Amino acid sequence: MLNDLESVMFDEKALAKRVAELGQEITRDYAGKEVILVGILKGAAVFFTDLIREVKLPVRIDFIIASSYGDGVETSGRVEIKKDLENDIAGKHVILVEDIIDSGITMNCLIDILKKRNPANVKLCSLLTKESRRQVPVTIDYCGFEVPDEFLVGYGLDYAEKYRNLPVIGVLKRSIYE
Ligand code: IMP
Ligand code: MG
Repeated sequence: MLNDLESVMFDEKALAKRVAELGQEITRDYAGKEVILVGILKGAAVFFTDLIREVKLPVRIDFIIASSYGDGVETSGRVEIKKDLENDIAGKHVILVEDIIDSGITMNCLIDILKKRNPANVKLCSLLTKESRRQVPVTIDYCGFEVPDEFLVGYGLDYAEKYRNLPVIGVLKRSIYE
């Protein structure tokens, strides 16, 4: 699988260091609050399991699967929840944990849907952001790294459901998808 990468952008050490820092920030900001960390499957699965162990608070965890309806490659702006939360989030402090924010369309819709359930607040933690690709504004409260507009795989990120289990994040060779 490593042979399919053009280059490695973040190795295990760089990822672990940044994830630990994000965990420390969340630990500091949420002391004494009722927190639910929500992993957005499947992309955030690897990041999520590392992050929650760096949050030194008695949090709950939950998962959501969302997919945006679209014709082909463009997302339409309508989000379907394929697997919903098990927790009632009313009055709770929710932190959504995502792998990467690209156009922002999926996250923008998902936050709107969750805010209607009257949580105390909803914040976003994303490992990566492609700022140059944004079509709708999304506030990332805890952000790992800003990345250029390249197709990345590994550490949860996939291409056609492959590479999620790579321990590093790298740029996929164009010859693989062109
Ligand atoms: P958007 O922000 O609504 O455009 O969608 C973000 C989603 O697109 C992420 O959750 C990923 O599943 C996917 N995505 C965006 N960029 C990449 C990438 O470089 N590699 C793998 N998946 C990506
Ligand atoms: Mg995703």
